[in-house]
Formats: sequence, structure tokens, C-alpha cells
Amino acid sequence: MPSVYIETYGCQMNVADSELMLGKLAAAGYAVAARPDAADVVIVNTCAVRENAEQRVIGRLTDLRRFMKPDAILGVTGCMAQRLGNRLLDADARVSLVVGPDGYRALPDLIDSARRGERAAVTRFDLEEHYDDFEARRFAGVKAWIPVQRGCDYRCTYCIVPYTRGPERSRGLDEVIREVASVAEQGLTEVVLLGQTVNSWTDGTRDFGDLLRAVGAVDGIRRVRFTSPHPNDFTDSVIAAMAGTPAVCEHVHLPMQSGSDAVLKRMLRRYTRDGYRDCVARLRAAIPGLSITTDIIVGFPGETDADFDDTMSLVREVGFDDAFTFKFSAREGTPATRLPADLTLPHEVVDERYEALVREVRAIARARNVQRVGERREVLVEKEARKGGHLLQARSRDFRTVLVPDRVAAIGDYLDVVLTGTTGSTFTGAPVAARAPLPVAG
Ligand code: 5AD
Ligand code: SF4
Repeated sequence: MPSVYIETYGCQMNVADSELMLGKLAAAGYAVAARPDAADVVIVNTCAVRENAEQRVIGRLTDLRRFMKPDAILGVTGCMAQRLGNRLLDADARVSLVVGPDGYRALPDLIDSARRGERAAVTRFDLEEHYDDFEARRFAGVKAWIPVQRGCDYRCTYCIVPYTRGPERSRGLDEVIREVASVAEQGLTEVVLLGQTVNSWTDGTRDFGDLLRAVGAVDGIRRVRFTSPHPNDFTDSVIAAMAGTPAVCEHVHLPMQSGSDAVLKRMLRRYTRDGYRDCVARLRAAIPGLSITTDIIVGFPGETDADFDDTMSLVREVGFDDAFTFKFSAREGTPATRLPADLTLPHEVVDERYEALVREVRAIARARNVQRVGERREVLVEKEARKGGHLLQARSRDFRTVLVPDRVAAIGDYLDVVLTGTTGSTFTGAPVAARAPLPVAG
């Protein structure tokens, strides 16, 4: 039996795609290899969202060449494959397949051709493709990534995704529910619905709120999350469905990108600072205890000190529970690269702003987390903690990481804990003692 090893970079959508590819190849007779040096086929599923994501992949391809079996097939998939296509084949003689996000159905055939020495780059978009008939081979033990939408119809000017993942298309509600029911049958209790602007999901008659209700009603599903939404697609009906569906967790990852109206406009985010603030207020009013995380880009072309101050002040005002922060990275072919060259900021300015933002984000998260020590949470135990020491890593509904002693629970268990301490970002938790039976009088 030939074996395949897949390495994944980038977002959860890529993780889900890797699981689909593995499933497809397993169905075609491949065993899953745990290491690249043992595999007959090595696939690197790539991200193109920032320059440094691509640099990492290029470095990794060089390393892999040294580890791989001499006759192993090397394939590059995902967003960087889509973006570079034939250019990747030209640049690296060891790579024999380059397959973009809509081409995974052909993988077994492409690998067969590669064995016969044919190299190929497949970068066509396929608006019908949802891989509905693929049986995903899941990496994670307790939660399932469920793609519900592929591609993106927004055109944020910094973003490569519309070019690497193509136009937006929503997967059918019945297909989503079938997959959710099947993971629930396998004993998974949490699902994460994935889409580039996931809350714009629609099948023409039903909206994302309907999808949330339907997923939340599947037997055995205790937690529903989704990522990433766009602020403009949080209609009242979607927010009402979140509030009214008990399985939907009290956490939203709501990309803000900037707090300056001028920058938001140049980014073509299609909302203003006030619009973002209003979205947060509506979500918080509907969902008590909601935790909010975000993505922020610093150093977008033309960002002034005053613009950056606006980002800092909105960060403070919203009070994010966490934030992913990025330095702007110019991506070939995106509209932002056509802005006047004199708007590009010096590295030192970007670095300085980035450091200041990270400090602020951490301080705010810490302050919010410190206040939560002593509170109770239901946590789902996800995996062994990386730091070891007989600890398990669990997660609360509001997306806080809580370390618990491994003797109190097993992976996949739900547990009621009291938060006993915080590093500022993660927590320790102790199980809430089951109430002792009252002594029997007499
Ligand atoms: N430069 C920097 N950050 C980017 N992101 C997307 N494109 C770029 C870019 N060109 C960030 C955004 C997005 C997250 C996934 O990556 O913040 O929400
Ligand atoms: Fe995911 Fe975007 Fe990276 Fe593609 S470019 S892997 S969609 S984060």
C-alpha cells in the first residue's frame, strides 16, 4: 500500500482541506504516513495570505527534499499552489504536482500521472465543488472542521484569498447537516463551521441563522462555533439565531483590521469604525458573556499616526479577549499593490506600531482574564497540554484555554471547573467538586 503524508500551513480551511485530501487518498488505497521520510507521496498544503507564510513553505520544500524517499512524489496544494501554478513547477524540479483548492478531486489520478513522470499544475476554479462525497480523515479528536462555504466575494484590497479560492459559493444545508450528523455519530461533540465570510452563507432561501439552528439541533452536538464572519453579514436574524441556539458558543472571532475610517475605506472593508462598534454592541446585547477576538493589520499603505491611534483606541474601547495582529504584506495582484508607492510605510514605523499594538492587546486580554479568575466554566478537554506536567488542555465555551490536571478527566470529556489562575492568556482550572451527599441524620 502506498502512503501519503500531508503537512498543512495557514488557516482552518486549509486544515479541513487536508482532511478531505487524506480522505480521498485513503479511499484510493493510500495509507496515512506519520512522517515525510516514510511516505511515497508528500503533500504540502500551503497558505498565501502573507509573504512570510510563503517563505516558510519555500524553506520547508527545500528541507523536505533532503528527508524524502528519493522516488517519493512531492505535491504542493492550497493557496500558494493556486497563486503560483506553473511558476512553482518551473522553480522547483522536485515538485511534480501543483493543485489549487478546487482541484483535489483529481489528486489520485494526478499522483498516478506523476509516477509516470508527468508534472501538472491544476488551478481551475470549480464553482460546483464542495467535495460533498469525500469522507474527511480528521486530525483532531474532539471537534470537527466543517466547510460550509468556499471562496470569497468580498474584495478587501489587501487580500489574496479571492484570487486563490475563487468566488464565494455556499454548500447545501442538507450536505452540511449530513456531515455534522456523521461526526456526531463518531462521538465528536463540537463542530466549527468554516467559510471565508461564513455568516454570509445562504442557499438562496435560508440564511446563516437557519444553518446555525439546524446544526445546533443535530443530536449529540453540544458546541457550535464558526469562523470567520464579516461584520456586515451579522444581520439581526443571524444574531437572533446565535442567541437562541443553546449549542452556539459565546465567542465570535470578528476581524476588525483597522479602527480608522480612512484605512477601512482604502481596505474596502465596507464598514466604518462606528459600523464595527455597532456590530459589537448588537452582538453583546444579544449574547451575555460573549467573548470577542479579532484580526488587525498594521502598516496598511497610507496609515498615518492618527489612523493608528484610531486602531489603538478602538482596540481599547471594544476590549478584545484576544487578537491576531499582522504587519501588512503586499500580495502580488491585489488592489493594494496598485496604491501610490509613496503610501508604503517604512519598516521601522510598521515595526514600532506593531509592537505597540501587541503590547496593548496583551494588556487588555490580561486585564479581562484576571477578572475571570474565580469564575466557573464548562470546559471540553481537547488534548494533552504542550507543556506536559500531567496537564490536559481544555477549552471553555467562551474560547478560553484552561489547563486541568490529567487525573480528573480524559480527552473528549466535559468538565465543570473553577478558574484558579491565569498567565494573562491561559488559565488553570480545578474541577468543581461534586456536591457531597448530605450526612444522613440519626
Ligand atoms: N497582509 C497582512 N495581513 C493580512 N491578512 C490578510 N491579508 C493580509 C495581508 N496582505 C490578515 C487579515 C485576515 C487574516 C486571516 O490575515 O487580518 O483577517
Ligand atoms: Fe487560508 Fe487564506 Fe491562507 Fe488560503 S490564503 S490558506 S484561505 S489563510
